[in-house]
Amino acid sequence: MHRTEMTTPDAMSTQYASTGRLATRRGVWGPGPEGVSPTDVLRQTVVDAAPHSVVEIGCGTGHLARSILDALPEVTYLATDLSRAMVESTAAVGVPAVVAAAHELPVPDQSCDVAVAAWMLYHVPDLETVLTELRRVLRPGGTLVVATNGESHLAGLLREAGGEPLVTQFTSEVAGPLLRRHFGDVAQRDIETRASFDDHAAAAAYLATFDEGLAGALPPFDGPRSYAGHTAILTAR
Ligand SMILES: C[S@@+](CC[C@H](N)C(=O)[O-])C[C@H]1O[C@@H](n2cnc3c(N)ncnc32)[C@H](O)[C@@H]1O
Repeated sequence: MHRTEMTTPDAMSTQYASTGRLATRRGVWGPGPEGVSPTDVLRQTVVDAAPHSVVEIGCGTGHLARSILDALPEVTYLATDLSRAMVESTAAVGVPAVVAAAHELPVPDQSCDVAVAAWMLYHVPDLETVLTELRRVLRPGGTLVVATNGESHLAGLLREAGGEPLVTQFTSEVAGPLLRRHFGDVAQRDIETRASFDDHAAAAAYLATFDEGLAGALPPFDGPRSYAGHTAILTAR
């Protein structure tokens, strides 16, 4: 069985040295049977908290930050990411952004109303340190908003390619208990999503964004295919 590396510095710098892989992956996802987009839920959760100041870790290309700032133009927003390319992409859409590791944020104690960690806590080498850091920067009563995936996220495609489901350190199955070690009030909404591929080449290209071996091992198929994804949005106070 083939296992995909999720946390090592080498894997991270290869994976996120440029924005292309992340953009390719984002492009295939659409709502599942409920017709709900996790990104919409994430954005609305932040907007509903009516924050004055937000810090985001692992901001990627900055699309979520941009949409939150469009909805809340007065907010003081700081987007951070370990990857310089991601920070440059985020700054290019007009969002204040700096290179920073999630465990060492350039933010004073208790200065943020909301912290956002979208699809990134499964990557950090020391999750407990990062959660301690998020607790440090949040004001008392502030909210951490998190997105992550479940164990069976895209498992159908991974299995077809001879891989294993991505059982990370922060799946939606364990995220709640892990957050409760640092936060008193944790709520979770599970959302089924759908990845759609026009053809075999598109599915292989998706796999290649994080694992060339899996891409090469995907048996040929004709026509379009789609696969279920499992995501969760959590809030912690
Ligand atoms: C799967 S992407 C998610 C990006 C974005 N949040 C989104 O939803 O599209 C993970 C991001 O986390 C960043 N990242 C990984 N490890 C990190 C760390 N230890 N500290 C800060 N950012 C990190 C990567 O560079 C990448 O941009």
